[in-house]
Amino acid sequence: MGRENFGNRFGVLVAMAGSAVGLGNLWRFPYLAGTNGGAAFILLYLVFVFILCIPVMYSEFLIGRRSGANAIGAFKTLAPGSKWGIVGLLGVLASISILAFYSVVGGWTIDYMVKAFQFRFTVTDNAVLEGMFAESISSVYEPLLYTAVFLALTAFVVLAGVKNGIEKYTKVMMPLLFLLVIIVAIRSVTLPGAAAGISFLFKPDFSAITTDTVLDALGQAFFSLSLGCGCVITYGSYVKKDEHIMKTSAMTAAADTLFALIAGLAVMPAVFAFGISPSEGPGLVFITLPHIFAQIPFGGVLAILFFFILFIAAITSSISLLEVVVAYLSEEFRIKRAWSVFAGVAGVACLSVLCSLSQGVLADVRIFGLNFFDFFDKLSANIFMPLGGFLIVIFVGYKLGRKAFESELTNDGKLRVATWLLNFTFFSIKYITPLAIGVIMLNGLL
Ligand code: TRP
Repeated sequence: MGRENFGNRFGVLVAMAGSAVGLGNLWRFPYLAGTNGGAAFILLYLVFVFILCIPVMYSEFLIGRRSGANAIGAFKTLAPGSKWGIVGLLGVLASISILAFYSVVGGWTIDYMVKAFQFRFTVTDNAVLEGMFAESISSVYEPLLYTAVFLALTAFVVLAGVKNGIEKYTKVMMPLLFLLVIIVAIRSVTLPGAAAGISFLFKPDFSAITTDTVLDALGQAFFSLSLGCGCVITYGSYVKKDEHIMKTSAMTAAADTLFALIAGLAVMPAVFAFGISPSEGPGLVFITLPHIFAQIPFGGVLAILFFFILFIAAITSSISLLEVVVAYLSEEFRIKRAWSVFAGVAGVACLSVLCSLSQGVLADVRIFGLNFFDFFDKLSANIFMPLGGFLIVIFVGYKLGRKAFESELTNDGKLRVATWLLNFTFFSIKYITPLAIGVIMLNGLL
């Protein structure tokens, strides 16, 4: 079975950015910033992205491209006969557990898109909007139906393959996404009373930082960049040998961070302008944004746009998560792509049902004090992903070693990369990144 590749450089970049930019930026980032005190959290997040996450991204990318294999196969190829495959397995499990709750939120975005088309966002009463959100997510059948639609659409794109599915659709969706979110952000920052939201985002209050905040910020950085669970390994394996790994990674991280900040500007000023609590939690965007829509000319149209954005952002990410599972199943078990998609989606769907129902009838079923939804979220973002990232840099730093690292990042010497940059990056991969991730994880978990 021949392996596919992405068609061109722009295709790689949009696919990577499509994976990174997602609900993590538009939905998770604003509400975590809101519950963790705003600017101080954001500052930590930025530091983690640039100091700890970029080396992890290089490492994942080079593992993928060097091996040309799926998340588990990659480790088997590069370290035959060893136990390193377990790191890949951890990644596949993490992808499944992210997709479990991600597809539920993806379902909410479709639900809200439908509501927007019905011009339902004409009220500004917090209680009504909170009620609408609570009702939408806690009933039994509707959210399940929307989750199923979301998973089916994800499967549809992945089924079409890497070039004709993932690349083709993300190429159209990503530029559109940036344009749309900028429009919404401009409207939000020009609202009367927006200033408080802007200063919440950019004026740090360091007293708000606790060890939980630090772990949440690290988890969010990993989550937002799609790291630690084999996504970048899998996409990297479809990238041709003449691609500049460091450049593509840096551009992906920059696009993702920029998008998160624009998303913050779209959401936070509106939160303050309308007197909503920034620590509202996961409902934040679904409850605050309708306020804007109700109060401005053409708000009804903007509402449709916004939930459409949310949906697009979600689906370009969920396809990357499903691709991790599909690439693994089809390559390691040599089954057809179609069957792998089917098996992957079926497995995820079982968990999604639990996550969706945990917002209503199963709310009292708790694992470690968390409902299913929060359990899968925290398990993947705060444990699986940092742990995966930790093991991945250890693999590159100690098992693959400096020579392979350098030859992969310089395309076998064909690219000129400054020696100091290679030295610094390798040092960071070997010592700084694993140490920092280890300390933060232990601190947050103990
Ligand atoms: N990064 C995406 C977001 O911000 C979510 C995502 C896609 C992801 N693939 C991933 C998260 C792999 C972790 C690992 O919404």
